Parts: sequence; C-alpha cells; structure tokens
Amino acid sequence: MKRKKISIIGAGFVGATAAHWAAEKELGDVILVDIIEGMPQGKSLDLFQAGPIEGFDARVIGSNSFQETENSDVVIITSGVPRKPGMSREDLLEINKKIIESVVSEVVKKSPQAILILVTNPLDTMTYLAFKKSGLPKQRVMGMAGILDTARFKAFIAMELGVSVEDIQALLLGGHGDEMVPLPRYTTVSGIPLSHLLPQEKIDRLVDRTRKGGGEIVNLLKTGSAFYAPSAAAIQMTEAILKDKKRILPCCVYLDGEYGLKDICFGVPVKLGGDGIESIIELPLTEEEKNLVAKSAESVKKSILELKL
Ligand code: NAI
Ligand code: 2OP
Repeated sequence: MKRKKISIIGAGFVGATAAHWAAEKELGDVILVDIIEGMPQGKSLDLFQAGPIEGFDARVIGSNSFQETENSDVVIITSGVPRKPGMSREDLLEINKKIIESVVSEVVKKSPQAILILVTNPLDTMTYLAFKKSGLPKQRVMGMAGILDTARFKAFIAMELGVSVEDIQALLLGGHGDEMVPLPRYTTVSGIPLSHLLPQEKIDRLVDRTRKGGGEIVNLLKTGSAFYAPSAAAIQMTEAILKDKKRILPCCVYLDGEYGLKDICFGVPVKLGGDGIESIIELPLTEEEKNLVAKSAESVKKSILELKL
C-alpha cells in the first residue's frame, strides 16, 4: 500500500509538533511548509533523523513552496499568528485572514482532492473562510478545536478526581472561544455520570477553567499559545480520516440547518472517517444548553461578519 501524504502548513509550534506526532505514528509521509527560509527544512531533517532512534518510517520534507504538497491526502493548516497575553483569538482575525486566503488557494491548486483541517485562530472564522475560498465540499473542510477543548475538560476532571484520563468521556459544543459549551450532562467517568462523582459547584468551576483553558496557557507561556495538545488533536483527526476510523469527535464544521444554525462553521459532534465529515450528530439539549449554544453561535457569526466576504 502506498504511503499517505500529510502536508502541514506553518512549521511553528503547532505545525512542527503535529509533524512529530504524525511521523511517530507512521500515519504517512509529512511535508512541512513555512515562509521562513531554511526553518521547515531544518526541522524536517531533524525529525527524519529521529526515525532511526524511535523506529518510525516516515519521510519528512521541509519546503518554502507548495510544490511538495502536491496530491496530499490531508492538509493541516496552522500558518498564522498566535495570541499573546491580553489578546483574544479575535484580535488575530485581520492578519490571519490574509494568510489563510493565500494558503488555501495554493493548497487547493496542488491537492484538489485533499481534506483540510484548519487550526489557525480565530478557529471557527478561519474554517468558514477556508470553506468559502476553497470551493471544496463541506465534508472536506473542518476545524480543530473541540477535541482540544474536551481534552482540557477531561484533564481537569481527571486531576480533580485523581483518576485516569483514559476513563473520562466528555462532549462539548460551540465555537472555540470563551463562550464554548462544555456539556457535563454528556460527561461520564467509565459510564458513571459526572454529577454522581462531583458536586455541581465543582463541575461549574471545571467548566469555567475549560472555557478559559487556552488563555491560562497563553498567560503562562507569555510568548505564544498551547501546542502539544492542539497538535495532538489535529493528528487525532488526521488519523481518523486516513484510517477511515469513523470516530465520533467534536469538530468545527459548516452547518446548514443543524442545531438550528445556518451558514456558520461551529463545533458539533461528527462522524469522522475516510470521506471527512460523514455525518453530523444532533444532540437533544435542555433550554439552558440551547441558550448557551445560541450565545456562542452569536459571537462566531459576529466574527464571520468581520471577514466582509
Ligand atoms: P507559530 O508562530 O509558532 O507558527 C505559525 C507559523 O506560521 C510560523 O512559523 C509562520 O512563519 C508561519 N506562517 C505565517 N504565514 C505563513 C504562510 N503564508 N505560509 C506558510 N507559513 C506561514 O504559531 P503556533 O503556536 O504554531 O500557532 C499557529 C496558529 O494556530 C495560531 O493562529 C494559533 O492561534 C492557532 N492555534 C489554534 C488552536 C486551536 O485550538 N484551533 C490551538 C493552538 C493554536
Ligand atoms: C488554545 O485554545 C490558542 O486557541 C488556542 O490554546
């Protein structure tokens, strides 16, 4: 069987770490593209040279051009500017809009059959922009945020209960902003409802910490944002696609009436497999959950309007 091809645009913290996970898991050959001369080439050669030590077979090629990305199966887009303390994800819109527009046009020219995974912030808005600019079907353009945000929720629950992160199942809806909607009602520890194990006041605190989870790391790092968990999340999506795993994962996708929302890219649970977004799962929500989703959708819509498409 021929190896799959994964291109990663932007070889900064998220991009290079995603390349690391992808190569180590032998998901395919990896192409790392960045505008900084020598940087993607240097990181790629270094990562390839880890292969003999770690025992993985994956070619890793760095480039400053899109030529090498030709006929990619999956393209992960991380190019853009991350936020610094005091900045919101929305503050990145103007500058990242220009980068995403030019990158998406190059990517689609070289790989019209690829599936696109957006990472660049503001995530829901950049996914919408990529969907509109690419002309690709909605099943093949998606954003990574929900897996990261649920992973944070799971990690905080595991810390609080002193249990394995592996035993926590959680779900979350909405945009990748401080108004995201973690769903404790759909969260269990080995099938045991979270409400059975923690008092409401503690759950509320973990939900709040999850919503602000990105900012917590920005404030600690001071020079950029999180990258280990974000890149692992993008690679979990890549693996689900390349291995046609049909996983149920929260992803940012284009909605056309689902959850009562239209013409928006928004985080919802989907079935992710070889064809990309194979279906969208609509959950029954309480009035309170519906209101939170509506509030999150409102801020994503506002941000999308800023694109002035
Ligand atoms: P970084 O600054 O380390 O890397 C970004 C890279 O993009 C830089 O190396 C830069 O040279 C490159 N770049 C800029 N313009 C380019 C172009 N036209 N073509 C190719 N490469 C280009 O930033 P980091 O930490 O990797 O974050 C990347 C983006 O991902 C940011 O916008 C950040 O906010 C976002 N992010 C989103 C997350 C999510 O949950 N969706 C989580 C973490 C980060
Ligand atoms: C995060 O949530 C910065 O969006 C990024 O870590």
